[in-house]
Amino acid sequence: MSHHIIEYDNVCHAYPDGTEALRGVTFTITHGESVGIVGANGSGKTTILLHSNGHLLADSGEVSIGHTPITAKNRREIRKRVGIVFQDPDDQLFMPRVLDDVAFGPLNLGLGGAEAQTRAMNALSRVGAAHLANRHPHNLSGGQKRAVAIASVIAMEPDILIMDEPASNLDPKARRRLIELLNGFEHTKIIASHDLDLILDVCDRCIIIGDGVVRADGPAIDILTSRELLEANNLELPLSMQREAGRRAKGDATMDDMSKLAHRISHWLEHNEEHAGTYSEWAGKAREMGKPELAGVLDEIAAETRKISGLFGKALTLAKVAGHDNSHGH
Ligand SMILES: Nc1ncnc2c1ncn2[C@@H]1O[C@H](COP(=O)(O)OP(=O)(O)OP(=O)(O)O)[C@@H](O)[C@H]1O
Ligand SMILES: [Mg+2]
Repeated sequence: MSHHIIEYDNVCHAYPDGTEALRGVTFTITHGESVGIVGANGSGKTTILLHSNGHLLADSGEVSIGHTPITAKNRREIRKRVGIVFQDPDDQLFMPRVLDDVAFGPLNLGLGGAEAQTRAMNALSRVGAAHLANRHPHNLSGGQKRAVAIASVIAMEPDILIMDEPASNLDPKARRRLIELLNGFEHTKIIASHDLDLILDVCDRCIIIGDGVVRADGPAIDILTSRELLEANNLELPLSMQREAGRRAKGDATMDDMSKLAHRISHWLEHNEEHAGTYSEWAGKAREMGKPELAGVLDEIAAETRKISGLFGKALTLAKVAGHDNSHGH
């Protein structure tokens, strides 16, 4: 599915007041990748994301989606496939009723009224905001607005999901729900955030932006555990890593490989559990559709997958014990 590839080739952008926000940004994101974009305030994250569906156009250089360069002419088409949740939900919500706001995108895609409303209600349920359907968006709290803005984008079922600071204003439960939603979204996703723990939970890859250029690009676990690299870019270790580092001897704050492995294993474990849940869910659906044999096989797959969770659990314990031994060896 190469049409999901996103390519930034030496993208430069200055705002009308002359501020040079992007000074040659280059990276390629392939289908199915989940990529975190991090960087200090004003580093250029939002400006980068706004180039991904033609909200902003490059002054020089090029942004392509599936090898098609984005232009003023094709950006309407591009927007059907690339959905952006804006940093400020007020930029996203403009209808007098939440449900109409969320149904707006699907209607624009050409769906009928009833179908668009069903999609909108489903999207609202997924972000835990179904009860807000009849409210006026502008009367909602910050976190409620954020949830509705996210629903309005997922209702369009984009191939590529882009979120700018999606977790800000969310309470812990809503944040957890967002992380699960993002982990359940199998297509390409790009998330800009100061919540580095969220990036670590959701993204396999991480790009650091500083002063309008790419400062680092690599596996999230490597980038987000490198104190030096983060501090050089006015960032800090994710909280979960700070706790980890606090447990270690002073002066030896960067994680060793064993701790990285432990973190990876817990990530795999979480994914595995989610997969097992999905298999069971579909087993249930297959049964309802009158396909008991298929349902049986899916149940079996779910059971086997849960067994693997047991193995991941064992590996996690061993890695943690090994990490503990290491830290005492220093
Ligand atoms: N509309 C605008 N007009 C002029 N300059 C702008 C505009 N929007 C952003 N900038 C400038 O462009 C640069 C990059 O801003 P951008 O919003 O992309 O940063 P960011 O990394 O998303 O920051 P934050 O973490 O605060 O969201 C900054 O110097 C900012 O002041
Ligand atoms: Mg921003």
